[in-house]
Amino acid sequence: MSVISVANLSKTYAGGFRALKDISLDIRRGEIFALLGPNGAGKTTLISIICGIVNPSAGRVTVDGHDVVADYRAARSTIGLVPQELTTDAFETVWATVAFSRGLFGKPANPAHIEKVLRDLSLWEKKDSMLRTLSGGMKRRVLIAKALSHEPRVLFLDEPTAGVDVELRKDMWNVVRALRDSGVTIILTTHYIEEAEQMADRVGVINRGEIVLVEEKAELMRKLGRKQLTVLLQKPLDTIPDSLAAHRLTLAAEGMALIYNYDTRGERTGITALLGDLNAAGIRFRDLHTTQSSLEDIFVGLVSER
Ligand SMILES: Nc1ncnc2c1ncn2[C@@H]1O[C@H](COP(=O)(O)OP(=O)(O)OP(=O)(O)O)[C@@H](O)[C@H]1O
Ligand SMILES: [Mg+2]
Repeated sequence: MSVISVANLSKTYAGGFRALKDISLDIRRGEIFALLGPNGAGKTTLISIICGIVNPSAGRVTVDGHDVVADYRAARSTIGLVPQELTTDAFETVWATVAFSRGLFGKPANPAHIEKVLRDLSLWEKKDSMLRTLSGGMKRRVLIAKALSHEPRVLFLDEPTAGVDVELRKDMWNVVRALRDSGVTIILTTHYIEEAEQMADRVGVINRGEIVLVEEKAELMRKLGRKQLTVLLQKPLDTIPDSLAAHRLTLAAEGMALIYNYDTRGERTGITALLGDLNAAGIRFRDLHTTQSSLEDIFVGLVSER
């Protein structure tokens, strides 16, 4: 069941730049969806259109069944947005700015909810502090608190941990997971592949305004579990001997290397048997090395393809 539906969405900015090209994407209720892409790929543009801040040039977006253009208020009220840029009123207190945010969505005051949000984000002790006195990481938490002030069912986090130290990043991941567990759908953009690996149920990759991959994280991890062993030989082989057929090797580097694929999480990798059979076949090797494809490789491959 999808909570956000994006259909054939395109965006051409006033200067004529095509930032999004025919994007279709469904976000499932209750998932954490990570949108990965290089600078300028269109992540913020896509989020801004879903949140009704930027108008689409073509296509249609619904949030919880509400069209983001025709039914803006209803759509927007279900969304919390943590923007990429840190903008806060330096001379407001934490409490005032978060409580005011709730009012902007026409929701009645609810101090108990604001308190819960501030406590969950470890901001309660700072509730009377002026924003300008907070550290950068705390300011980012305040942005999250603001986005949660009106009890949204969908939360967008645009680069939530940019410039945040490792410790705080992990804290924020916990906060986001807890939100997901409470039923909030989360869409986050990130440059940190590790963040997507840690957090996401599904991963989407966007490049030059096009979605180039959408996949379950578990499926990506399955791909990650694959490793490759390269056996560099002392003498070149013309063909792979029949006695080695079961290992499904491929010959590379003009016969000077054998490549063996295996699953790191399998009970047996088959390496011992392979090396034994190589020995029995009289094949001598010079060196061995292994490589593992990571989400980063997949990502870089997708993004540099074009
Ligand atoms: N208001 C605008 N007018 C014209 N072009 C714009 C505007 N906003 C964004 N763009 C262009 O659209 C493209 C996508 O920008 P966007 O901010 O969506 O990328 P992004 O994926 O969020 O990048 P980043 O990772 O740097 O945040 C960029 O080339 C950008 O220069
Ligand atoms: Mg951006």
